[in-house]
Amino acid sequence: MTARETVAVAHPNIALIKYWGKRDEHLVLPFNDSLSLTLDVFPTTTRIRLDPDATVDQFVIDGRAARGEVLHRATEFLALVRERAARQERAVVDTRNTVPLGAGLASSASGFAALAMAAAQAYGLSLSATQLSRLARRGSGSAARSVFGGFVLWHAGDPDAPDPDLSSYAEAVTDTRLDTALVAVVLDAGPKAVSSREAMRCTVATSPLYQGWVTDSRADLVRMRTALRNGDMACVGEIAERNALGMHRAMEAAWPAVRYRSPASHTVLHHVRRLRKEGVGAWATMDAGPNVKVLCASADAEQVAERMREVTARVVVARSGPGARLAAVTS
Ligand code: DP6
Repeated sequence: MTARETVAVAHPNIALIKYWGKRDEHLVLPFNDSLSLTLDVFPTTTRIRLDPDATVDQFVIDGRAARGEVLHRATEFLALVRERAARQERAVVDTRNTVPLGAGLASSASGFAALAMAAAQAYGLSLSATQLSRLARRGSGSAARSVFGGFVLWHAGDPDAPDPDLSSYAEAVTDTRLDTALVAVVLDAGPKAVSSREAMRCTVATSPLYQGWVTDSRADLVRMRTALRNGDMACVGEIAERNALGMHRAMEAAWPAVRYRSPASHTVLHHVRRLRKEGVGAWATMDAGPNVKVLCASADAEQVAERMREVTARVVVARSGPGARLAAVTS
């Protein structure tokens, strides 16, 4: 059998206005719009070929056969693609990440964006970028944003729409000239103790701070878009830091509490505040892990990275990166 192979590449993204909490678990519809920057580091490359003789899908991630929850999610995702394409064949998928898995550096975003693009092509679905972002969303919410490059807005959508699925998609935010960098401070590259999926559920169900954070996030987004249009780095940075810290406070108020911030994270957060007092434009954001990403103007990135090395050894400078793309289709 000569197998036709499709290869797609996608980059992670880091949200400046976060997505945290689903109002529809099945469709992966969030409570609030989120806004992110797609990075130029840590791409995921996914190769897929269809095997008409196979009875199950096969997934190899970073050289190892996928198992458990990871395998379940990836298989369910391919089942959705097959349903849309009205096809039956099972697939052989090989995924290579360059970011440490599960370290709060968004490997599920690049992973499902690359898988959505590769699988759609392999099963013969011809999708626009908007449609692709809706499909990627079903694998992992944040993956909807990695379909696009640069700054990206993911619309939460309208729960009362006749087809809510159609209303929730990502799009590029192009009305800004702000040239930003994210300096990633890697404190722990191991897998996280609580998955973000589980942690979100717990926050939504039990945190007394959650609804307030959602309301704040909606206002944050409006102000962030104005700040992006105006090229106001300080305003963008301040909104991003407050939004991320508000999300962590909401999680920490849940029962049982979800704690991703470690003592080392607090040291880094403190260092970022110290830098600001010294007049350096640097603002922190954090996701579902202990690592801190420091937002700054691209021109200041090397200086900020140098200063972050005062508190930790592993610092990676990322800038604005491209959207998901097909790397090859071979037969
Ligand atoms: C903290 O997209 O990984 O990074 O939809 O359950 O797969 P699922 O969640 P995921 O959550 C990302 C959460 C976050 C914030 C963000 O990226 O907006």
